[in-house]
Amino acid sequence: MHGLGSSLGLVGLVALVGPLVAACGGDADAPCDPAGPMCAHLSSYHLFDDLATQTPASDVVPYALATPLFSDYTTKDRFVRVPPESSLAWQDTDVFRAPVGTIVAKTFSYKVDRREPAGARRPLETRLLIRQDAGWIGGSYVYPEGDPSEATLAIAGAMVDAHWIHDDGTERTNAYVVPNKNQCKECHAEHDEIVDLLGPKARNLNADGQLEHLIELGVVTGAPPPATWPAGIHAYDPASGTVEQRARAWLDINCAFCHNARGIARTSGLYLDAMQMTPLSLGICKPPVAAGRGSGGRAYAIVPGQPDASIMMFRLESIEPDIRMPELGRNLVDAEGAALVRAWISSLPGSCP
Ligand code: HEC
Ligand code: HEC
Repeated sequence: MHGLGSSLGLVGLVALVGPLVAACGGDADAPCDPAGPMCAHLSSYHLFDDLATQTPASDVVPYALATPLFSDYTTKDRFVRVPPESSLAWQDTDVFRAPVGTIVAKTFSYKVDRREPAGARRPLETRLLIRQDAGWIGGSYVYPEGDPSEATLAIAGAMVDAHWIHDDGTERTNAYVVPNKNQCKECHAEHDEIVDLLGPKARNLNADGQLEHLIELGVVTGAPPPATWPAGIHAYDPASGTVEQRARAWLDINCAFCHNARGIARTSGLYLDAMQMTPLSLGICKPPVAAGRGSGGRAYAIVPGQPDASIMMFRLESIEPDIRMPELGRNLVDAEGAALVRAWISSLPGSCP
């Protein structure tokens, strides 16, 4: 429904460098002005000492989320640069507030062989979000195949034919989609249609000592006492929490940026953020707003104990563009995430009328 098809026509590396793109005066080494239009080349931001190895510059801090958004089995590396003498301001449940001049980067790559975590990777794209006076701007920089040393702004998006060896040793392929510039806001407007960061929240960062580390570095300020911090849950790690806690963490990061009371999917009445406690809002015995193809003929978003009668499973196990959820950002099913939500729905007591 959101016209991903328009970017699918562009196969391979596409870089449309129009008048809105700063070419940095022809001097490749001139730093890109974060207050200006997006520069044509990723290297102009000087975020990395070595782009090919993704070695961050000294003022750039890597961070990870306890549970990431599923992005077709890509590996994602995240980095933040806050301007000197400033920081991300703590918020209890919303994303941390970033000062003007902040740049956040996320690089997507495929491991050549997922069974070798430290092995070679094929970088696909680095997405940037830049905080300007008027709000966030963003775009994606695409790496040409075989050359990770520079990436070029791809305003119209791109499609990359990717392949890798999966966890089970089989060869997998994906027509990986780099979103176009307009699609960023179809996900990044979590509240009230305003583009913002999505990941850097207390509950996503509070794992493996990371939040303490960011506070120590001065990247995050204003935190309350640690005992009050929400726990970060690794959805895919059974040791990290109960099935319910892990399923809720998975739904929170994969769905709640649209499915919340102030989000793009607010009219669905399905609210999947971590703070949501009302069974009906979570989808339990909730009939669909529109019974159509997207409901798969099923009566409720979640039927307790019955994943195969639940619209939620139908949509998150589908790869069809007008059925699948999330509706953009993936071609493939997150098999492990779907199994987790299935286990959670199976464990729910009760029944629907
Ligand atoms: C399918 C929805 C979706 C689309 C489309 C999307 N993003 Fe994101 N993005 C997310 C989510 C969710 C996160 C946080 C979770 C994660 O990083 O795994 C995120 C994280 C990021 C981050 C790290 C900072 C943060 O907000 O957490 C950057 C930078 C980013 N996106 C840039 C972009 C840009 C630029 C575009 C458009 C070219 C884009 N994204 C399109 C969903 C999306
Ligand atoms: C990019 C925004 C976006 C994301 C992310 C997203 N959805 Fe949706 N979702 C929508 C929109 C818009 C609708 C209403 C239109 C429709 O049904 O297609 C919807 C509708 C639904 C419905 C039908 C709701 C009803 O009761 O009518 C279900 C179920 C659903 N989504 C589940 C999910 C799940 C589960 C996830 C995460 C795995 C998810 N969605 C992620 C935008 C999103």
